[in-house]
Amino acid sequence: MEKYVLITGASSGLGKAAALKLAEKGFKVFAGVRKQEDKENLEQLHSNIIPIFLDVTNDESINYAFEKIKEITDSLYALINNAGVALAGPVEYIPVGILKKQFDINVFGAVHVAQKALPFMKNSDDCRIINISSMASYGIFPFISPYCVSKRALDMFFNSLLVECKMKGLKIISIKPGVVATPIWNKSVDESVKNLELLCNEGKQKYAKEFDFLIQNARKNTTKGIDPQKIADLIYHVLTVKNPKLSYNIGKDSCFAKFMSYLPQNLCNFLVKTGLRKRIN
Ligand SMILES: NC(=O)c1ccc[n+]([C@@H]2O[C@H](COP(=O)([O-])OP(=O)(O)OC[C@H]3O[C@@H](n4cnc5c(N)ncnc54)[C@H](OP(=O)(O)O)[C@@H]3O)[C@@H](O)[C@H]2O)c1
Repeated sequence: MEKYVLITGASSGLGKAAALKLAEKGFKVFAGVRKQEDKENLEQLHSNIIPIFLDVTNDESINYAFEKIKEITDSLYALINNAGVALAGPVEYIPVGILKKQFDINVFGAVHVAQKALPFMKNSDDCRIINISSMASYGIFPFISPYCVSKRALDMFFNSLLVECKMKGLKIISIKPGVVATPIWNKSVDESVKNLELLCNEGKQKYAKEFDFLIQNARKNTTKGIDPQKIADLIYHVLTVKNPKLSYNIGKDSCFAKFMSYLPQNLCNFLVKTGLRKRIN
Protein backbone atom coordinates (compact mmCIF):
# COMPACT_ATOMS: atom_id res chain seq x y z
CA MET A 1 0.00 0.00 0.00
CA GLU A 2 1.25 3.50 -0.81
CA LYS A 3 2.39 5.55 2.15
CA TYR A 4 1.70 9.27 1.94
CA VAL A 5 3.78 11.81 3.79
CA LEU A 6 3.27 15.58 4.01
CA ILE A 7 6.33 17.81 4.48
CA THR A 8 5.87 21.52 5.08
CA GLY A 9 8.51 23.94 3.79
CA ALA A 10 9.99 21.67 1.14
CA SER A 11 11.30 24.36 -1.21
CA SER A 12 14.86 24.20 0.11
CA GLY A 13 17.17 22.95 2.84
CA LEU A 14 16.11 20.05 5.04
CA GLY A 15 12.58 19.85 3.64
CA LYS A 16 13.77 19.46 0.09
CA ALA A 17 16.45 16.92 1.02
CA ALA A 18 13.89 14.90 3.01
CA ALA A 19 11.30 15.06 0.22
CA LEU A 20 13.80 13.61 -2.25
CA LYS A 21 15.09 10.94 0.13
CA LEU A 22 11.59 9.73 1.00
CA ALA A 23 10.46 9.83 -2.63
CA GLU A 24 13.48 7.73 -3.63
CA LYS A 25 12.57 5.25 -0.90
CA GLY A 26 9.07 4.82 -2.30
CA PHE A 27 6.98 7.19 -0.17
CA LYS A 28 4.49 9.47 -1.91
CA VAL A 29 5.47 12.91 -0.73
CA PHE A 30 3.20 15.95 -0.56
CA ALA A 31 5.80 18.70 -0.55
CA GLY A 32 4.66 22.09 0.74
CA VAL A 33 5.82 25.12 -1.25
CA ARG A 34 4.83 28.76 -1.56
CA LYS A 35 6.16 29.69 -4.98
CA GLN A 36 5.39 28.46 -8.48
CA GLU A 37 9.10 28.09 -9.33
CA ASP A 38 9.60 25.82 -6.28
CA LYS A 39 6.61 23.72 -7.33
CA GLU A 40 8.08 23.27 -10.81
CA ASN A 41 11.50 22.54 -9.39
CA LEU A 42 10.18 19.79 -7.10
CA GLU A 43 8.05 18.28 -9.87
CA GLN A 44 11.27 17.72 -11.83
CA LEU A 45 13.03 16.16 -8.85
CA HIS A 46 11.11 12.87 -8.53
CA SER A 47 7.83 11.41 -9.75
CA ASN A 48 6.85 10.48 -6.18
CA ILE A 49 6.91 14.14 -5.13
CA ILE A 50 3.59 15.94 -5.32
CA PRO A 51 4.21 19.65 -4.71
CA ILE A 52 1.38 21.43 -2.98
CA PHE A 53 0.91 25.12 -2.18
CA LEU A 54 0.97 25.50 1.57
CA ASP A 55 1.61 28.60 3.62
CA VAL A 56 1.36 27.44 7.22
CA THR A 57 0.30 30.88 8.45
CA ASN A 58 -2.64 31.18 6.09
CA ASP A 59 -5.93 29.40 6.92
CA GLU A 60 -7.14 29.43 3.32
CA SER A 61 -3.89 28.01 2.07
CA ILE A 62 -4.00 25.21 4.66
CA ASN A 63 -7.61 24.35 3.76
CA TYR A 64 -6.78 24.38 0.06
CA ALA A 65 -3.76 22.11 0.59
CA PHE A 66 -5.82 19.53 2.47
CA GLU A 67 -8.55 19.65 -0.20
CA LYS A 68 -5.86 18.83 -2.75
CA ILE A 69 -4.57 16.00 -0.56
CA LYS A 70 -8.11 14.64 -0.16
CA GLU A 71 -8.48 14.46 -3.95
CA ILE A 72 -5.61 11.95 -3.93
CA THR A 73 -5.88 10.09 -0.62
CA ASP A 74 -7.80 9.98 2.61
CA SER A 75 -4.91 8.70 4.67
CA LEU A 76 -1.55 10.12 5.66
CA TYR A 77 1.17 8.01 7.19
CA ALA A 78 3.16 10.98 8.40
CA LEU A 79 3.34 14.73 8.76
CA ILE A 80 6.73 16.41 8.92
CA ASN A 81 6.46 19.89 10.41
CA ASN A 82 9.54 21.38 8.85
CA ALA A 83 8.58 24.91 7.69
CA GLY A 84 10.41 27.44 9.80
CA VAL A 85 12.27 30.71 10.03
CA ALA A 86 14.79 31.99 12.57
CA LEU A 87 14.24 35.53 13.79
CA ALA A 88 16.62 37.39 16.05
CA GLY A 89 16.79 40.44 18.27
CA PRO A 90 17.45 41.57 21.84
CA VAL A 91 14.50 40.88 24.14
CA GLU A 92 14.81 44.40 25.53
CA TYR A 93 13.88 46.04 22.22
CA ILE A 94 12.62 43.50 19.71
CA PRO A 95 9.27 44.58 18.23
CA VAL A 96 6.46 42.31 19.38
CA GLY A 97 5.32 41.94 15.75
CA ILE A 98 8.52 39.98 15.06
CA LEU A 99 7.81 37.66 17.99
CA LYS A 100 4.30 37.07 16.64
CA LYS A 101 5.63 36.29 13.18
CA GLN A 102 8.12 33.82 14.63
CA PHE A 103 5.37 32.02 16.50
CA ASP A 104 2.87 32.15 13.63
CA ILE A 105 5.23 30.19 11.38
CA ASN A 106 7.17 27.89 13.72
CA VAL A 107 4.51 27.11 16.28
CA PHE A 108 0.90 27.96 15.43
CA GLY A 109 1.41 26.98 11.78
CA ALA A 110 2.68 23.55 12.80
CA VAL A 111 -0.16 23.00 15.26
CA HIS A 112 -2.75 24.10 12.71
CA VAL A 113 -1.39 21.80 10.01
CA ALA A 114 -1.31 18.92 12.51
CA GLN A 115 -4.96 19.55 13.44
CA LYS A 116 -5.84 19.20 9.77
CA ALA A 117 -3.62 16.16 9.26
CA LEU A 118 -4.85 14.13 12.23
CA PRO A 119 -8.22 13.18 10.65
CA PHE A 120 -6.21 11.65 7.79
CA MET A 121 -4.41 9.49 10.36
CA LYS A 122 -7.24 8.50 12.66
CA ASN A 123 -7.84 4.99 11.32
CA SER A 124 -4.21 4.03 11.35
CA ASP A 125 -2.47 1.78 13.85
CA ASP A 126 0.85 3.42 12.97
CA CYS A 127 1.14 7.06 11.99
CA ARG A 128 3.76 9.64 12.81
CA ILE A 129 4.31 13.35 13.25
CA ILE A 130 7.90 14.50 13.07
CA ASN A 131 8.69 17.99 14.23
CA ILE A 132 11.87 19.57 13.01
CA SER A 133 12.71 21.30 16.24
CA SER A 134 16.25 22.44 16.96
CA MET A 135 19.03 22.44 19.52
CA ALA A 136 17.68 25.98 20.03
CA SER A 137 14.79 24.43 21.96
CA TYR A 138 17.25 24.01 24.86
CA GLY A 139 17.16 27.79 24.98
CA ILE A 140 20.79 28.68 25.54
CA PHE A 141 21.31 31.05 22.62
CA PRO A 142 21.11 34.76 23.40
CA PHE A 143 19.72 37.16 20.76
CA ILE A 144 17.87 34.40 18.96
CA SER A 145 15.43 33.92 21.80
CA PRO A 146 12.38 34.26 19.49
CA TYR A 147 13.61 31.21 17.60
CA CYS A 148 14.61 29.29 20.75
CA VAL A 149 11.30 29.91 22.45
CA SER A 150 9.37 28.95 19.31
CA LYS A 151 11.13 25.60 19.13
CA ARG A 152 10.58 24.91 22.83
CA ALA A 153 6.92 25.81 22.43
CA LEU A 154 6.66 23.52 19.40
CA ASP A 155 8.06 20.63 21.42
CA MET A 156 5.77 21.36 24.34
CA PHE A 157 2.59 21.62 22.25
CA PHE A 158 3.28 18.31 20.58
CA ASN A 159 4.24 16.60 23.79
CA SER A 160 0.86 17.65 25.15
CA LEU A 161 -0.80 16.31 22.01
CA LEU A 162 0.93 12.99 22.53
CA VAL A 163 -0.27 12.76 26.13
CA GLU A 164 -3.81 13.95 25.36
CA CYS A 165 -4.52 12.22 22.08
CA LYS A 166 -6.63 9.08 22.01
CA MET A 167 -5.17 7.79 18.75
CA LYS A 168 -3.23 4.71 19.84
CA GLY A 169 -1.17 4.48 16.68
CA LEU A 170 0.14 8.05 16.81
CA LYS A 171 3.85 8.56 17.41
CA ILE A 172 5.28 12.06 17.74
CA ILE A 173 8.98 12.64 17.35
CA SER A 174 11.10 15.74 17.84
CA ILE A 175 14.30 16.02 15.81
CA LYS A 176 16.73 18.57 17.22
CA PRO A 177 19.49 19.31 14.73
CA GLY A 178 22.52 21.43 15.51
CA VAL A 179 23.74 23.75 12.76
CA VAL A 180 22.86 22.45 9.30
CA ALA A 181 24.20 24.04 6.12
CA THR A 182 20.99 25.43 4.61
CA PRO A 183 19.76 28.80 3.31
CA ILE A 184 18.02 29.49 6.64
CA TRP A 185 21.10 31.26 8.00
CA ASN A 186 21.44 33.80 5.21
CA LYS A 187 17.68 34.33 5.17
CA SER A 188 17.74 34.87 8.91
CA VAL A 189 20.56 37.39 8.69
CA ASP A 190 18.84 39.32 5.89
CA GLU A 191 15.62 39.45 7.88
CA SER A 192 17.39 40.33 11.12
CA VAL A 193 19.31 43.16 9.48
CA LYS A 194 15.96 44.55 8.27
CA ASN A 195 14.47 44.06 11.72
CA LEU A 196 17.43 45.80 13.34
CA GLU A 197 16.37 48.92 11.51
CA LEU A 198 13.10 48.73 13.44
CA LEU A 199 14.93 48.96 16.75
CA CYS A 200 15.22 52.34 18.41
CA ASN A 201 18.62 54.07 18.18
CA GLU A 202 19.39 53.24 21.79
CA GLY A 203 18.79 49.53 21.09
CA LYS A 204 20.86 49.57 17.91
CA GLN A 205 23.82 51.21 19.62
CA LYS A 206 23.68 49.15 22.78
CA TYR A 207 23.81 45.80 20.99
CA ALA A 208 25.76 46.74 17.84
CA LYS A 209 28.85 44.66 18.74
CA GLU A 210 26.84 41.57 19.61
CA PHE A 211 24.86 41.83 16.40
CA ASP A 212 27.92 42.23 14.19
CA PHE A 213 29.35 39.08 15.75
CA LEU A 214 26.12 37.10 15.43
CA ILE A 215 25.65 38.11 11.81
CA GLN A 216 29.16 37.00 10.87
CA ASN A 217 28.68 33.76 12.74
CA ALA A 218 25.32 33.05 11.11
CA ARG A 219 26.74 33.66 7.61
CA LYS A 220 29.44 31.05 8.32
CA ASN A 221 26.79 28.52 9.35
CA THR A 222 25.40 28.52 5.80
CA THR A 223 28.36 26.40 4.78
CA LYS A 224 29.94 25.09 7.98
CA GLY A 225 26.92 23.15 9.31
CA ILE A 226 26.27 19.47 8.73
CA ASP A 227 24.92 18.24 5.41
CA PRO A 228 21.08 18.41 5.19
CA GLN A 229 21.27 14.90 3.75
CA LYS A 230 22.11 13.62 7.24
CA ILE A 231 18.84 15.00 8.58
CA ALA A 232 17.00 13.49 5.61
CA ASP A 233 18.55 10.11 6.47
CA LEU A 234 17.46 10.48 10.09
CA ILE A 235 13.92 11.39 9.03
CA TYR A 236 13.80 8.26 6.90
CA HIS A 237 15.04 6.20 9.86
CA VAL A 238 12.41 7.73 12.16
CA LEU A 239 9.68 6.95 9.63
CA THR A 240 10.72 3.35 9.16
CA VAL A 241 11.99 2.15 12.54
CA LYS A 242 9.34 0.24 14.51
CA ASN A 243 9.65 2.17 17.75
CA PRO A 244 11.14 5.63 17.20
CA LYS A 245 12.41 7.58 20.19
CA LEU A 246 10.56 10.70 21.30
CA SER A 247 13.53 12.93 20.60
CA TYR A 248 16.71 12.82 18.51
CA ASN A 249 19.76 15.07 18.72
CA ILE A 250 21.86 15.29 15.60
CA GLY A 251 25.23 17.05 15.50
CA LYS A 252 27.82 17.47 18.26
CA ASP A 253 26.58 21.00 18.93
CA SER A 254 23.08 19.68 19.56
CA CYS A 255 24.39 17.09 22.05
CA PHE A 256 26.38 19.85 23.74
CA ALA A 257 23.28 22.07 23.97
CA LYS A 258 21.43 19.18 25.59
CA PHE A 259 24.24 18.72 28.09
CA MET A 260 24.22 22.45 28.92
CA SER A 261 20.51 22.29 29.60
CA TYR A 262 21.17 19.87 32.49
CA LEU A 263 23.38 22.43 34.27
CA PRO A 264 21.91 24.70 36.93
CA GLN A 265 20.47 27.74 35.14
CA ASN A 266 22.83 30.26 36.77
CA LEU A 267 25.90 28.20 35.82
CA CYS A 268 24.60 27.77 32.28
CA ASN A 269 23.92 31.52 32.01
CA PHE A 270 27.41 32.33 33.29
CA LEU A 271 29.07 30.04 30.75
CA VAL A 272 26.99 31.38 27.86
CA LYS A 273 27.56 34.99 28.81
CA THR A 274 31.33 34.69 29.32
CA GLY A 275 31.63 32.54 26.18
CA LEU A 276 29.85 35.17 24.10
CA ARG A 277 31.93 38.01 25.57
CA LYS A 278 35.20 36.19 24.86
CA ARG A 279 34.23 35.48 21.28
CA ILE A 280 33.13 39.06 20.65
CA ASN A 281 36.26 40.69 22.09
N1 LIG B 1 19.56 24.88 9.19
C1 LIG B 1 19.74 24.66 10.48
O1 LIG B 1 20.84 24.88 11.02
C2 LIG B 1 18.61 24.14 11.31
C3 LIG B 1 18.92 23.62 12.57
C4 LIG B 1 17.90 23.16 13.37
C5 LIG B 1 16.60 23.20 12.91
N2 LIG B 1 16.32 23.72 11.68
C6 LIG B 1 14.93 23.75 11.26
O2 LIG B 1 14.78 23.07 10.05
C7 LIG B 1 13.63 23.54 9.37
C8 LIG B 1 13.96 23.76 7.91
O3 LIG B 1 14.90 24.81 7.82
P1 LIG B 1 16.10 24.83 6.80
O4 LIG B 1 17.33 24.95 7.60
O5 LIG B 1 15.98 23.73 5.82
O6 LIG B 1 15.89 26.26 6.13
P2 LIG B 1 15.28 26.71 4.73
O7 LIG B 1 16.02 26.11 3.61
O8 LIG B 1 15.21 28.20 4.83
O9 LIG B 1 13.81 26.09 4.74
C9 LIG B 1 12.75 26.68 5.40
C10 LIG B 1 11.49 26.27 4.70
O10 LIG B 1 10.37 26.80 5.42
C11 LIG B 1 9.51 27.40 4.47
N3 LIG B 1 8.65 28.43 5.06
C12 LIG B 1 8.97 29.59 5.66
N4 LIG B 1 7.86 30.25 6.02
C13 LIG B 1 6.81 29.47 5.66
C14 LIG B 1 5.41 29.59 5.74
N5 LIG B 1 4.83 30.68 6.29
N6 LIG B 1 4.63 28.58 5.27
C15 LIG B 1 5.19 27.50 4.71
N7 LIG B 1 6.51 27.33 4.56
C16 LIG B 1 7.31 28.30 5.05
C17 LIG B 1 10.44 27.99 3.43
O11 LIG B 1 9.69 28.26 2.26
P3 LIG B 1 10.03 29.52 1.27
O12 LIG B 1 11.19 29.07 0.45
O13 LIG B 1 8.77 29.69 0.51
O14 LIG B 1 10.35 30.67 2.17
C18 LIG B 1 11.40 26.82 3.28
O15 LIG B 1 10.87 25.85 2.44
C19 LIG B 1 13.20 24.81 10.12
O16 LIG B 1 12.10 24.53 10.94
C20 LIG B 1 14.41 25.14 10.95
O17 LIG B 1 14.06 25.84 12.12
C21 LIG B 1 17.29 24.19 10.87
